Amino acid sequence: MAGYLRLRRLRRTDAMRRLVRETRLAADDLVQPLFVVEGRGIEQEIPSIPGICRFSPDRLSREVEETARLGIPAVLLFGIPSAKDETGSAAYNDKGPVQQAIRAIKKAVPELLVITDVCLCEYTTHGHCGVIRGGEVVNDETLPLLARVAVSHAAAGADMVAPSDMMDGRVAAIRQALDDAGFSDIPIMSYAAKFASAFYGPFREAANSVPAFGDRQSYQMQLTNAREAMREIAEDVLEGADIVMVKPALSYLDVILSARASFDCPIAAYNVSGEYAMVKAAAARGWIDGERASLEILNSIKRAGADIIITYHAKETAARLYHEGRRL
Ligand code: PBG
Repeated sequence: MAGYLRLRRLRRTDAMRRLVRETRLAADDLVQPLFVVEGRGIEQEIPSIPGICRFSPDRLSREVEETARLGIPAVLLFGIPSAKDETGSAAYNDKGPVQQAIRAIKKAVPELLVITDVCLCEYTTHGHCGVIRGGEVVNDETLPLLARVAVSHAAAGADMVAPSDMMDGRVAAIRQALDDAGFSDIPIMSYAAKFASAFYGPFREAANSVPAFGDRQSYQMQLTNAREAMREIAEDVLEGADIVMVKPALSYLDVILSARASFDCPIAAYNVSGEYAMVKAAAARGWIDGERASLEILNSIKRAGADIIITYHAKETAARLYHEGRRL
């Protein structure tokens, strides 16, 4: 009396479900974003990204030791400078928060991979990711500045640079500058398909990088376009990107899936601040189970095809994977 497929046979027990699991999340997949500020003795929770702090470089060692102990292989650094200018020159200051943080982390936990976000928006008075001329973000004048930032990070000891500005040609410009400065071994993880998204709101509050006028639609991608995302990724790969990223992750799982099908390089996905904040806000009200929701989200990103997931949930997730015998 079979007659139909009994798929429930493979769902009966936890052991059976573990055996047939198709997607396995591991601490190895995760990257923890870290915000660093200028100053000393600062460890200050970010209201819009609950559970995540801004650290001054001198306060980082315990945080990164814990991150590494949980099995997370990498952190992604964002800097918040104390002074800004029109062209974001603080971004390549060798004494800047990111440069100092890189040195502090490398001293505390040399094996932890330090990735740096390369962009100008946290460092410019106008909050845009490039140089402004006549009210517009100009492309080619921005490239040498981004290249200079990348070289400055590499010189401070960064293991990988991650340009997030969305200027055309920046991967090639950064690759050339790194090679010329003797950093041909430093890979580039490009924010290749980065969409103009509402989900960056909490980050901009955290990094104090809200654009003073207009928005980022003339450089970040419009959210309706998946085919264009493949062109962005193809171009970055051609220019020398070692890893390509899709950002945000959750509303762009289709883009991750297509990228996986079309490209053989590692694919990263950024589970951004707004995606994280939604989970935390709903969980704080008892409307959803935040732990289960975050695991569902991270598994969906991995199932779509991401090899690397940058997420504010990294530490809490790795801690659970660890304590529960990696059985999530
Ligand atoms: C800088 C940058 C942003 C994010 C990462 N790098 C903000 C933006 O583009 O406005 C967003 C990260 C997040 O929301 O978690 N260009």
